[in-house]
Amino acid sequence: MSRYVVGRVAELPPGSRKIVMVDGRSIGVFNIAGRYFALRNRCPHQGAPLCLGRIKGTTLPGKPYARVYARDGEIIQCPWHGWEFEIETGRTYFNPHRLRVKTYDVTVERVEMADVTLETFSVTTEGDFVILHA
Ligand code: FES
Repeated sequence: MSRYVVGRVAELPPGSRKIVMVDGRSIGVFNIAGRYFALRNRCPHQGAPLCLGRIKGTTLPGKPYARVYARDGEIIQCPWHGWEFEIETGRTYFNPHRLRVKTYDVTVERVEMADVTLETFSVTTEGDFVILHA
């Protein structure tokens, strides 16, 4: 399994997310209360960019006519049709055993900058525009 540097811990504070491209795959990395998780940024329903969805909680069963809102910050809602997924497991909230989005392991490690190879591109300015040459 290959390892990729996502960024510094300070760049991903609790409650935030970062979308990265790894080998042509878009992956969302999340910090939920100091724990890190990663999901494929593609909804299994119709392919929406899932990791751009709203991070929220969900409603749990309760007494009749009572709603219990819980798990705030642990659920992501697809921006297209509203399906909800657990960020930690990638499972849909309504059918957790059949529908899920791929998850990836995330670790926090000390990295020697000498071990990191960054891909660089040339950049120029033309008039009022910054141009990336990839
Ligand atoms: S594409 Fe995500 S719920 Fe439809």
